[in-house]
Amino acid sequence: MCGITACAGSTPALPFLMQGLEKLEYRGYDSAGVTLVSGQGLTTVKAKGRLATLAASMEGGRWPQTTGIGHTRWATHGVPSNLNSHPHVNETETIAIVHNGIIENHRPIREFLEDAGYHFHSETDSEVIVHMLDYYYRGDMLEAVRKTVRYLDGSFALCAVCTDFPDTVYTARKDSPMVLGQTEQASLCASDIPALLAYTRDIVAMEDRQIAVLKPDGIRLYDFDGKPVQPVWLHVDYDVQAAQKGGFDTFMEKEMHEQPYVLSETLRGRIFQEDVNMPELDFLDMHDMKAVYFIACGTAWHAGLYAQYLFRKWIPVPCFCIPASEFRYGDYPLGPDTLCLFISQSGETADTLAALKEAKKAGAPCVSVTNVLGSSLARQSDAALYTCAGPEIAVASTKAYTTQLVLLAAIVLKLADLYGALVPDRRRLVQDLARMPRVAQDMLEAVPDGISHGAEALKDRHDAYFIGRQLDYVSVLEGALKLKEISYIHADAYYAGELKHGPIALIEEGTVVIALATQPEVAAKTISNIQETMARGADVTLITGQSQNAEGFQDVIRIPDVHPYLAVIPVTILLQRLAFEAAEKRGCDVDKPRNLAKSVTVE
Ligand code: M6R
Repeated sequence: MCGITACAGSTPALPFLMQGLEKLEYRGYDSAGVTLVSGQGLTTVKAKGRLATLAASMEGGRWPQTTGIGHTRWATHGVPSNLNSHPHVNETETIAIVHNGIIENHRPIREFLEDAGYHFHSETDSEVIVHMLDYYYRGDMLEAVRKTVRYLDGSFALCAVCTDFPDTVYTARKDSPMVLGQTEQASLCASDIPALLAYTRDIVAMEDRQIAVLKPDGIRLYDFDGKPVQPVWLHVDYDVQAAQKGGFDTFMEKEMHEQPYVLSETLRGRIFQEDVNMPELDFLDMHDMKAVYFIACGTAWHAGLYAQYLFRKWIPVPCFCIPASEFRYGDYPLGPDTLCLFISQSGETADTLAALKEAKKAGAPCVSVTNVLGSSLARQSDAALYTCAGPEIAVASTKAYTTQLVLLAAIVLKLADLYGALVPDRRRLVQDLARMPRVAQDMLEAVPDGISHGAEALKDRHDAYFIGRQLDYVSVLEGALKLKEISYIHADAYYAGELKHGPIALIEEGTVVIALATQPEVAAKTISNIQETMARGADVTLITGQSQNAEGFQDVIRIPDVHPYLAVIPVTILLQRLAFEAAEKRGCDVDKPRNLAKSVTVE
């Protein structure tokens, strides 16, 4: 997610811009830039990489300008590079902009502007904004901003400066955050509160469809129709670190709560009624394929197991999901007729990259699913599909995983279309897929008592067992992994039917069993398996659907009524919460579990 800072003041603007960008580093970025404005012109400096690189490239310069805009870019359209980084400047170098969000209709706007004689220098969606401002500018910048924002679809928070008004910053927002602040010397704005806190604790959080005009002596706020709006000032009394966590105590909790939003961002534009929009995969001839492999590590491997399950249900081509660290040594048949799909949040996991190399060597078509634009995996694949989870800072994957699940559901539907395979109950599945952001919201808003009970029961235990059949088995693998990594409780995941073939020997009075029975086809059988553990004294939490008979169970959590193939989303959110609460009760650092790294770049 990009970060924006801007200042219209009576003292040099650069110190505020740079310290603000530093405070926004937690949002993740791959390049940075600033534009300072004076009556003499714009001075723009950009650098790929860290803020320190930007600062180094400015060293020795004189930066007395008192108005400016700054930006850290987290690439969404176009790879990280100096050209794609912000600010973007018009051709006469009189207007500059920074933007956070996605302009969904940037293509038609770009075509229109190119026909009107404008030249583009970047691959970004954002660049259309500066040329539109130029197109509409007739001496009144506020009017140009108003006309421009009217045409932008999607989400944006933007700031603009113009050499004709060297003491003014113009900012506008829709579906992307922007906060304003005022000191005796300056009017300030930024994507998030931490950037302002060293300067002021009184802030205005801009509402959607508002424009603000910042001058050294004050801020004026308007709606998109140009009607003045009274700003609502809030006093902020929390510290910078807390502010970066959006009011949550940990990044993990914040990221869990971001799931409704990032799920909708990931699905945005992908599904329409019963159809899946995924032109990236049109190059595949599914009838040519003799096998399909999903390849990934850890949580991403669980996402692959989910995709494998759907694939096998719908498409009559052999399909395997294999941990990347095993793939290259597994002698799997590989060639131009084997499709390889790699899944990785970071796109930099060494095992996954090594497997990709192997597949490419054999001439296999390679598709990647990743969260990071321009990552090694995305660059080296024949096609890259992106989850829109934004930066994930906590080591334990939460929002990255659920966004992988929904994107993979759409991908497998698309593969079924390419094959010409019939997907039973498709309408309900696609409709429910579109409902997942809402379902996630409901799961987060009302945490069932059973989860807190389960976490309390786990607090002093050394081990726990997660059981389920079919798709529930994918969820128990992920639930057990989450518990292990952040709470250090030994957790095993078993197929419920396998329990009686050995592991049941471990069940004794008080053993914690988390049991999933959300798949109607096998739920009754799972229930019998669970009863076998209860007969041996297990402390069971049952997670099941709305209509499942759960007589005799004390702790029953019912998930919303969704297509069984999507139950994995609400269930995962519950199991994330369970692991989180258990870890917190045990006093663990949930964001930085011991021995683990966010991006595993060694094999
Ligand atoms: O970046 P990747 O998705 O390739 O990372 C793979 C695993 O290391 C990762 O999913 C890991 O298992 C999670 N952080 C666990 O929560």
